[in-house]
Amino acid sequence: MKQFKVTLVAFILLIGSFARADEGMWFLMFIDRLNQRDMQKMGLQLTAEEIYSINNHSLKDAIVQFNGGCTAEVISKDGLLLTNHHCGYDAIAELSTPETNYLKNGYWAPSKKEELKPQSLYVRFFVRMDDVSKRILAKVNAGMTEAEREKAINQEIALIEKENNEGGKYTVSVRSFFQGNEFYYFVYQDYKDVRLVGTPPESVGKYGGDTDNWEWPRHTGDFSMFRVYADANGNPADYSTSNVPLKPKRHLKVNISGVQENDFAMILGYPGRTNRWMPAGGIEQNVKFAYPAWVEGSKTGMDAMKKYMDQSDAVNLIYASKYAGVANYWKNRQGMIDALSKFQTAKLKAEQEAKFNKWANKAENKAKYGNIVATINNYYKLTNEKSRHDNYLQQLLRTSAFGTIARTLGRQLSGYATADAAKQVEMRPEIEATIKAFFQEMYLLAEKDILKAQLALYATKSIGYTIAPSVSKIGSDYDKYVNSLFALSLFTSEEKLMAFLDLPSEGMVTNDPIYVLSNDLILHLSSKSDEIAKAQNDYQASFRLLVEGLRESKMAPIQYPDANSTLRLTYGKVRSLPADKRNDAKVNFYTTMDGLVKKYKAGDAEFDLPARMLEMHKNKDYGQYADNKGYMPVCFLTDNDITGGNSGSPVLNGKGELIGLAFDGNIEAMAGDVIFDDKLQRTINVDIRYVLWLIEKFSGAKHIVDEMNVIK
Ligand code: ARG
Repeated sequence: MKQFKVTLVAFILLIGSFARADEGMWFLMFIDRLNQRDMQKMGLQLTAEEIYSINNHSLKDAIVQFNGGCTAEVISKDGLLLTNHHCGYDAIAELSTPETNYLKNGYWAPSKKEELKPQSLYVRFFVRMDDVSKRILAKVNAGMTEAEREKAINQEIALIEKENNEGGKYTVSVRSFFQGNEFYYFVYQDYKDVRLVGTPPESVGKYGGDTDNWEWPRHTGDFSMFRVYADANGNPADYSTSNVPLKPKRHLKVNISGVQENDFAMILGYPGRTNRWMPAGGIEQNVKFAYPAWVEGSKTGMDAMKKYMDQSDAVNLIYASKYAGVANYWKNRQGMIDALSKFQTAKLKAEQEAKFNKWANKAENKAKYGNIVATINNYYKLTNEKSRHDNYLQQLLRTSAFGTIARTLGRQLSGYATADAAKQVEMRPEIEATIKAFFQEMYLLAEKDILKAQLALYATKSIGYTIAPSVSKIGSDYDKYVNSLFALSLFTSEEKLMAFLDLPSEGMVTNDPIYVLSNDLILHLSSKSDEIAKAQNDYQASFRLLVEGLRESKMAPIQYPDANSTLRLTYGKVRSLPADKRNDAKVNFYTTMDGLVKKYKAGDAEFDLPARMLEMHKNKDYGQYADNKGYMPVCFLTDNDITGGNSGSPVLNGKGELIGLAFDGNIEAMAGDVIFDDKLQRTINVDIRYVLWLIEKFSGAKHIVDEMNVIK
């Protein structure tokens, strides 16, 4: 019965020409036209202009993209930034040592002087955007191959970037929407001096670990705080002690009056990638070929890392961030396989495509659209085995530090070897720094195991497709092979590499056995047969036409473009999730500190808690942050439409005030990348009251809360 209902909802979404109020990652430029009235009906008290305006300061000025892959928001007039713990994780680990372990123990800078600068961390402010579809599409025609098309488009993009970057002041990015049917450019300003202000201990910021990741009910204090620094004029500047906190155009007010079910909630942020327009064949390929290989490949890397991470704090700090990133998508992809299979999403999409195909083959549409569904299906059929192979190989390259060495350090070293003496002197400091960093960021014994395990998996499981030549030559003794690679290679010895800089020769790099392997793997991943290359070319053109045709025929299931790391708005409400087997929530939209303490397991890697937290819970030491019902809030659910990249996004009430911090999705709705399910899809948020409680009461950093504009 349940499954039938879910299927029905999904089906209506697919064939209906309407979108649910809470579905959609909307484009800021069009919210006055598309969404404003609907949002106001649901409880928004702002105008579209107050959210996004090109000419006046608006809410959008408080939202930044955080280090390329997350979102953060400005919450004080001194450039204070709030984002997730898992977004700050890499920087926090980098700033930690076994002796001063901020990842493990947390950190709060007593004053601005003690705010900590990680090596590289940047935030990106959004300045403006505009439509350049007509201009770009005027440069292409239907007779072009995809490569010719791409070239023509890139030429125009280069011009647009140059015209709008004001001599390098701005970063300009032109993005394609609706599979290359529309183009918009985005103007950004990047700030590179971003410092850690504070973080809870990992036991709080990552409470529940991978067991609770992607799950509701949730009790994770997933936040960390940073600050943007600028030069005296407020312009971006490289790190300097003379830099000052940025005076932002806009910062968010923080509202601690609490959330109720059905309250309006909107989220502004940078969703990375969705595939809501993906054809049935693509879903099928992912479920049966790509994702199972992804899951197995990432787990293989994770297990090899974990063995060594558990042995010492030092090795743990080296791999913690990499491991968390791999584990995050390991669980996500398995969740996608399960959800897409359970809801038969590929079948639903295939039915929709069959309908579309009828329309496409009507006399008046046939010339343009008649073949596209067949072309798309042919491409997937032809590439199923390759996609399995590619995913095993990609996980090898992702988890092994040596996998991509030919493109990183290897390329630098061969460039150095072929440079003239003067140039070498100039290049040397940077290369020495890269070598040092390379050895600091990996542990040789772990790397040996990762590579052995990944090569064995890749070679034996990529059935149905030709594996890379250098791997097929290994035979079956991967231990012996990797041991000898490690013994012979330059790249496994910091000493040998430093000595190489005194007496460089290109051949020593390009004939190095690890370099040869890495180069071969990378080349093999990008190489394809003429047959596949042709099918891919036709597929790309057909997918673009499919999206155009779905929109033209009014058979499009949705009206918004796929996420592509551009700023979007999603709105909906605070909303509970029906309990089911996988989730023991008592139909609550929130969790409490009682629930958090109930999960506590002393000494556990995922569910341990600081003694101080337990003590404060016992004394109900919640200060002004308790809910008026008496409980201490921890997390809550909304039905907003988000995906990876939205992590750290602000959850805002009808007045645009901060009530929470988005940090996760729920496993029941893992099909959400491909299809939004109104009944199941939720956003998991940390309640801002828990964040402020952790800062002020638990960590004693009241001065940070005092910086904010807190509304009760
Ligand atoms: N699922 C979260 C996201 O994709 C990341 C949570 C990180 N936590 C973890 N246990 N790996 O944004």
